[in-house]
Amino acid sequence: MRKKQALYESDFMHEIMGDTIRPGGVDLTEKAILLAHLPKKAKVLDVGCGCGVTMDLLANRFGYHVTGIDPSQKLITKALKRNAGLNIILGKGENLPFEDNAFDGVICECSLSVVDNADLTLAEMARVLKKKGKLIISDLYIKDSQMDNKVENSLDCCQNGVMIKDKIIETVRKYNFLICLWQDCSESLTQLICQMIMNGHSIQDFWSNVTSCGALSCQVKYGYYLMIAEKK
Ligand SMILES: C[S@@+](CC[C@H](N)C(=O)[O-])C[C@H]1O[C@@H](n2cnc3c(N)ncnc32)[C@H](O)[C@@H]1O
Repeated sequence: MRKKQALYESDFMHEIMGDTIRPGGVDLTEKAILLAHLPKKAKVLDVGCGCGVTMDLLANRFGYHVTGIDPSQKLITKALKRNAGLNIILGKGENLPFEDNAFDGVICECSLSVVDNADLTLAEMARVLKKKGKLIISDLYIKDSQMDNKVENSLDCCQNGVMIKDKIIETVRKYNFLICLWQDCSESLTQLICQMIMNGHSIQDFWSNVTSCGALSCQVKYGYYLMIAEKK
């Protein structure tokens, strides 16, 4: 099967979304941060920070001390071109180069579904969070639980790790988190698809940019969620 370029690095996605490479944009981040009630001057880690738009928002609008980590040199270069002052480390969520209990908050937007190992990434995020620290995740999920087995490991694209709601919650709980909020935000996915169509693309264009097994992808009912959890 032909491997595709990661969607989040593609010109196609940047043309549609700009530097916020996911559904919901800055509005969803702002909403999530207000719901998370982080302390003043909180130390926050952005796992899979991409082009650093969320980092900018957290520092400038909320006054937090923000660190980002991402394995894509291409996206980090973009982030630093926009704001040379951002503190971004080249690395992966599966191996966070920080001490235990270092952060008040960890944010992970549309990145858990693309990491190589979501379990390990969640374990690492739990490790670097302080007790009562907040984990903020927004991401794609599979709405139709019957599709899960069929989809798992069958997509050769950046959506390999998309899970059903129950599995996400179960995995997060396994790492000593209390789920404070789960909200379906699928309207942001609809908005993104509309934006894509307004830009002259079709759903087929989208799937052919994402994967070479487009037909299967089209059968899956995706949603988008926001979750806030607290480290026990
Ligand atoms: C869909 S983009 C989202 C980027 C950013 N969070 C945003 O909201 O615009 C997914 C991001 O996850 C990053 N990523 C891929 N594998 C990763 C890993 N193993 N650990 C951490 N981040 C990863 C990608 O480089 C990319 O920046």
